[in-house]
Amino acid sequence: MEKIKLNLDKTYSFIGEKPVINKKDEAEKSNVALTEKTGKGNDFLGWVELPSSIGENELSEVESTVAKLKAKKLDLFIVIGIGGSYLGAKAVIDALSDNFAALKGNSGNPLVLFAGQNIGEDYLYELRELLKVKEYALAVISKSGTTTEPAIAFRLLKQDIEEKYGKTEAKDRIIAITDEKKGALRTLATIEGYKTFVIPDNIGGRYSVLTPVGLVAIAAAGFDIRAMVKGAQDMEAATAPNVPFEENLAAQYAAARNALYENNKKVEILVNFNPKLHFFAEWWKQLYGESEGKKGKGIFPASVDFTSDLHSMGQYIQEGERHLFETVISVKSPDRELCVPKDDANLDKLNFLAGKRIDEVNKMAELGTMLAHVDGGVPNIKIELPLLNEYYIGQLIYFFEKACGISGYLLGVNPFDQPGVEAYKKNMFALLDKPGFEEESKKIKSRL
Ligand code: PA5
Repeated sequence: MEKIKLNLDKTYSFIGEKPVINKKDEAEKSNVALTEKTGKGNDFLGWVELPSSIGENELSEVESTVAKLKAKKLDLFIVIGIGGSYLGAKAVIDALSDNFAALKGNSGNPLVLFAGQNIGEDYLYELRELLKVKEYALAVISKSGTTTEPAIAFRLLKQDIEEKYGKTEAKDRIIAITDEKKGALRTLATIEGYKTFVIPDNIGGRYSVLTPVGLVAIAAAGFDIRAMVKGAQDMEAATAPNVPFEENLAAQYAAARNALYENNKKVEILVNFNPKLHFFAEWWKQLYGESEGKKGKGIFPASVDFTSDLHSMGQYIQEGERHLFETVISVKSPDRELCVPKDDANLDKLNFLAGKRIDEVNKMAELGTMLAHVDGGVPNIKIELPLLNEYYIGQLIYFFEKACGISGYLLGVNPFDQPGVEAYKKNMFALLDKPGFEEESKKIKSRL
């Protein structure tokens, strides 16, 4: 099967090949450290061999659980989670779904909606209104079991689902995905008798999309989790430490972005030319931002959807501060075929495009944008997928994960912790007078 491709030509044209090649040894050592678990954060490296260790039992357990739920003729499957317990599933489902799945509603699969990824009162209120008139089941995902956003959402939706279906039937419509032994959600699941899946101890949230955290929701949306895992397995093999740097896409990407960072390119913009990839960039931003943004260091991960955002962010990218580089995810062939029609009046003067595929126009926009931005001083990395399907999304996920681990080590940080995420929580709890936060409450309120 074909592999995704990485093209660094338009990075080399800025900084030359040398700064990237200079990182070869360190990138290879970092890759070995990930595999041998000798580097920083080595208790969170369960994702490294995850694809090749996913067994038939695990996949069929996910599939049969989802099939049982679907037999209930669900309109909606609600996934409650935030951060790593949300973004992976959302990214994959959006990338693979019909753009208008929510309105067409004829796929034979429930529409997957998310909750607990914000504390928006309107969001939760309006979701609950919708659920009153829909058939639904839900998965609550939290490794710690105590994250405020999903815990609030689950409090509400648990009461609703029990009221709507009765406690016994509600129990059969709730799946809990959490730690194997500890945490509030594990305790609750045991008391209530929910079907559960385990988030392995050694896999952090942002690396968990290939665990039940992502697989359950992706299977519920009707996608082939086996093909996705196969893609990830193939990329695991293609980026293993025994694959030389010159052929190892993850090591090369990690080296290139660090070389650019050292050349004062502090912002990486992940670019797509297919709106289905919008949330893939959100997943990527968490992966790279949370892994690398620490100790006063790290590339700032940003994203744009082109060509839409060329009409908003294009000016800055072309002529603003020159601290940017772009990484473009390019999909070679779209799923569908559509041509520009001829128009006899030709008032828009576009008849020269008549008969051309829409994708040909999009591809020329992509090429033209890349050249314009390169001319404007923005180095470019291109990642090409043959198709947007489960198999290549699986490859892309593992490629970015492996590259992120290597890149974090090259940067000299622990890519597997996120100590900075606690600061807002501490303040929020202090402001809300959480028991145990009395001192913090006094201090923070004196600042107001
Ligand atoms: O990457 C991470 O670890 C975080 O984004 C977590 O996934 C997120 O904070 C949710 O945590 P939990 O699954 O414990 O509710």
